[in-house]
Amino acid sequence: MKILVTGGAGFIGSHVAEKYLKIGHEVVVIDNLSTGLREFVPRGLRFIEADLRDFGTMDRIVSKERAEVVSHHAAQIDVRNSVQRPVHDCLTNVAATVHLYESARRQGLRKFIFASSGGVIYGEPDRIPISEKTSAAPQSPYAAAKLSAEHYLSCFHHLYGISSTVLRYANVYGPRQLGGEAGVISIFFRNMVSGRRPAIYGDGRQRRDFVFIDDVVDANVRALEHEGFGIFNIGTGVATSIRDLYRSVAAITRFAEPPLHEPPRQGELFQNALDVRLASTSLGWRPHTDLKTGLAAAGAWWRGRIRTVRRTPPRSRRRATPARVL
Ligand SMILES: NC(=O)c1ccc[n+]([C@@H]2O[C@H](COP(=O)([O-])OP(=O)(O)OC[C@H]3O[C@@H](n4cnc5c(N)ncnc54)[C@H](O)[C@@H]3O)[C@@H](O)[C@H]2O)c1
Repeated sequence: MKILVTGGAGFIGSHVAEKYLKIGHEVVVIDNLSTGLREFVPRGLRFIEADLRDFGTMDRIVSKERAEVVSHHAAQIDVRNSVQRPVHDCLTNVAATVHLYESARRQGLRKFIFASSGGVIYGEPDRIPISEKTSAAPQSPYAAAKLSAEHYLSCFHHLYGISSTVLRYANVYGPRQLGGEAGVISIFFRNMVSGRRPAIYGDGRQRRDFVFIDDVVDANVRALEHEGFGIFNIGTGVATSIRDLYRSVAAITRFAEPPLHEPPRQGELFQNALDVRLASTSLGWRPHTDLKTGLAAAGAWWRGRIRTVRRTPPRSRRRATPARVL
């Protein structure tokens, strides 16, 4: 089937697009390359550089492509940026999402898959792991926007009956992650592999649920078959402290120095871990990659990337433009 993947030059979207292509679907990627990289877009699919906030262009693309499924991963993903520029966040994460849906619906959309966030939508939970029944308590414009987009999808499902699957990701990590919500793992790797001391904010006892990219991709494959409207946590249920994470990444990179210590960041949540039983019963999904295995894969990718970037000559001496983003 034909699938439109937005944000397919980014971390998660590029892996999802790659898998859809591999299992035989026709895939079109739309991305404005604001945080994504052209080199991450898998070969063998059509890439369209466009901004979801450009409604006229999006209408033209969507009506030309007439995809059965939209996998919506493009977003403004920086929580702190959403606090500083809430309108900018809202335009991409709410308005452009609603527009994309409306545009695709008019062209015969069959299914909409939406990348939401179980890492921020619940706010500070009383206890973990958190199930989907827990009331949402957004504490940032980014979280409010994700929740708002979910409500629009639920409302549209009631209005038009189109299938929508919301995947509330925990902190996703793995190859090709350059930053973002779960950026702590990539920030630790990037610094340690380069011989620099990463910072820990606060005492490092804050705990997060880290889910490996391959498991997230698997959830996106299973979501293709899901009918109706559903919201599913996609995580591991395991909470890992930032301190322990530091030790694990340091062991993989053989980095012997202690972290720098910075004051706690205002508004940072203390703990998060997602109950994934609903995804298990409804999608037949469960996470397969433990943190040790996933970190080893992420570490191997970072070592390769740092080597490649160091070998890449400065822009003035290059003809092509391989990304030098670290
Ligand atoms: N990484 C995580 O841990 C995590 C957790 C929860 C939810 N999510 C959600 O998953 C999705 C993908 O996140 P990611 O970590 O891969 O981030 P990412 O920044 O790597 O990917 C987002 C992509 O969207 C593109 N984009 C941004 N604004 C756009 C616009 N206006 N028009 C077109 N393209 C645009 C960017 O260029 C980028 O390629 C996002 O919706 C994010 O909110 C991520």
